[in-house]
Amino acid sequence: MAGRDTHSLLPAGLLLVLFHTWGAWAAVEVVVEDKVEVYLGDTAQITCTFTSDDGIGGTSIQWFYVDKLKEKQRISSQDSMMTRVDKDTPYTDRISVNSTGASVVLTISDVQLQDEREFICLVKSLTDGVGEGRTRLLVYAAPNHPTIEGVHTGISVHEFSKIGSCEVRNGYPRPNITWYRDSTPLRHDPDVVEFNSQITTESSGLYSVTNELRMEVKKEDKDAQFYCEVTYFVPKDTMMTETRRINITVFYPSTAVDIWVESPTDKIKEGDSIKIHCTANGNMPSVLSIRNLKDDESSDVSTLVLKDVTRQNSGTYECSSMDTDNFEEITSYTNVSVHFLDEAVITPTKTMTHSQGEDLRAVCNALSSLRTHTTWLKNGKEVSRGHTLNLKKMTYDMAGQYVCVVSVPEIQGMQTNSTLHVHVKGSPVIMEGDMAEAEMEVETGKTVELKCSFRGYPVPSITWSSPDRKDLVGQSEQTQQGAQSTISVKVSSDMTLHCNAANDHGKSAKIFNIKAISTIHTTTSATTTTTTTTTTTTTTTSISNATVQTEASKPTSQPASKKESNGVIIAVIIICILLLAILGSVLYFLYKKGKICGRSGKQDFNKGKSGKDNVVVEMKSDKTEEAILLGVNGEKQSPGDQ
Ligand SMILES: *[C@@H]1O[C@H](CO)[C@@H](O)[C@H](O)[C@H]1NC(C)=O
Ligand SMILES: *[C@@H]1O[C@H](CO)[C@@H](O)[C@H](O)[C@H]1NC(C)=O
Repeated sequence: MAGRDTHSLLPAGLLLVLFHTWGAWAAVEVVVEDKVEVYLGDTAQITCTFTSDDGIGGTSIQWFYVDKLKEKQRISSQDSMMTRVDKDTPYTDRISVNSTGASVVLTISDVQLQDEREFICLVKSLTDGVGEGRTRLLVYAAPNHPTIEGVHTGISVHEFSKIGSCEVRNGYPRPNITWYRDSTPLRHDPDVVEFNSQITTESSGLYSVTNELRMEVKKEDKDAQFYCEVTYFVPKDTMMTETRRINITVFYPSTAVDIWVESPTDKIKEGDSIKIHCTANGNMPSVLSIRNLKDDESSDVSTLVLKDVTRQNSGTYECSSMDTDNFEEITSYTNVSVHFLDEAVITPTKTMTHSQGEDLRAVCNALSSLRTHTTWLKNGKEVSRGHTLNLKKMTYDMAGQYVCVVSVPEIQGMQTNSTLHVHVKGSPVIMEGDMAEAEMEVETGKTVELKCSFRGYPVPSITWSSPDRKDLVGQSEQTQQGAQSTISVKVSSDMTLHCNAANDHGKSAKIFNIKAISTIHTTTSATTTTTTTTTTTTTTTSISNATVQTEASKPTSQPASKKESNGVIIAVIIICILLLAILGSVLYFLYKKGKICGRSGKQDFNKGKSGKDNVVVEMKSDKTEEAILLGVNGEKQSPGDQ
């Protein structure tokens, strides 16, 4: 700006000088800059250019400054001979004057704020008269970086309050402070936006400026950023800097509250713990309270926890917020449903007795707040779906326990059940898979456990009897379809046992025919001294529904009866005859073999190798416990060869 001004003024100055020249007396043409701008402490140069017919030799040049009283004070003078700096002026030590052709330059070092004044270059010519030029010296000092301080306490909406204060120190000329909200400069607006600016002149003569912003706070201001911009002049330019951003805490009342069930997130069932939460959208201190509309009491909390809820806790919950500022109340509601599933109830009764061939119908229901699903199970298997169980033409097989399971599909694990006992009337019948008569062989002296089971209702009573024995007492118990009984009997001789079942509708029986048998126990042995081996047959007794118990303490090889000792004698004789026969056949073999061996060298070699008197006996056991007889000298013979 300054530069442009100087240029535009130049022709005007020249005209003025020319006008003077053509005037009453001739004038010297003097040209100076309008203003010279310089930083505080720097060196300033003011150039004075003149044109005169006399040249530098015929002119004298003087420099003046204009004081506060607008009076000219000389600081230097110069003629063709020499240049003199005047003594005892503020510039005595700080100036110098240099001439180059038709220009003279005044140099002022260490420029002070007081130097901001007008300087005059006066040129006197011997023939052309007098001319002068005036230059303003402008001094600048860039201020320190500006600072900002915001208010830290929260401000309520609509309050007219101080927002913050900015300060910029040590500038020259005076810097300006402009407040911004976000990127918009704030303008003075009575009762809405006000600035309070204070300018301090420091002892150095520099300016410090503080500017305080006060304004009516709106809710949007909670997110706004405030800052100051400082503008200041420097030589030939205008500069600006910004402070950091600040924000303010704005207290605003709630305009809405929100209430919801925080947990569980799924459907609520009886026994659950629930957490109801309430929030308000304001940030001013306010009192929140939650209550069930059914109740009169409310809790001044933002989170309500209800433990082990029941259907009584269902209902509409209200959250209300009372603003502490204007005492306005705002409310919000949420519905809470506590779901339930009551005990399953079977109608008409939990125990039903029907005759065979009749139909049965039972209904199972459980009261619930949600849709339920019902299934009927028998022995863990699904037999029917839905509330109703229909059994057509009842048979004994249909008797038993039917469990109805009522579940709520929408809520995992929510189910209940009840059991229906179904009895089918009729006389006792032997349990399916069992036989009316059982034959069995039991070793004498052993104890056998017998068991029988019957279907029938009313539950048959079971007794044991035998034509051979008295005082038979079994262990009876009720089963799902009837009853069963077990008895332990020690077998000393052949016997017949009756398991008798009876109820109001009739009776039935199961008969056990037990044959007492005696067994000879021989042990299988491998001998190395004789050429004989023994074949043993082991009998395994397997009787349906009977278990044979061996009494280890009592040796079974001590039969007391006459019959048994006769048998032993006969057996011994038979064995002896057998042994003789075997011996005979062996001898015959050896005889025949001796002849063959005599003619075979190979056989001799083998004979020598295996040893003359060695007898090898090998036992092979399979299911029939068949023994293979091996010949003398290791020659194997199949059993058929014997
Ligand atoms: C306000 O300023 C502080 C620190 O400068 C910052 O943590 C906070 O997020 C700001 N708040 C807003 C609303 O800008
Ligand atoms: C400061 O403001 C005043 C008044 O509006 C203006 O004249 C001056 O030029 C401004 N200064 C700067 C450095 O912007």
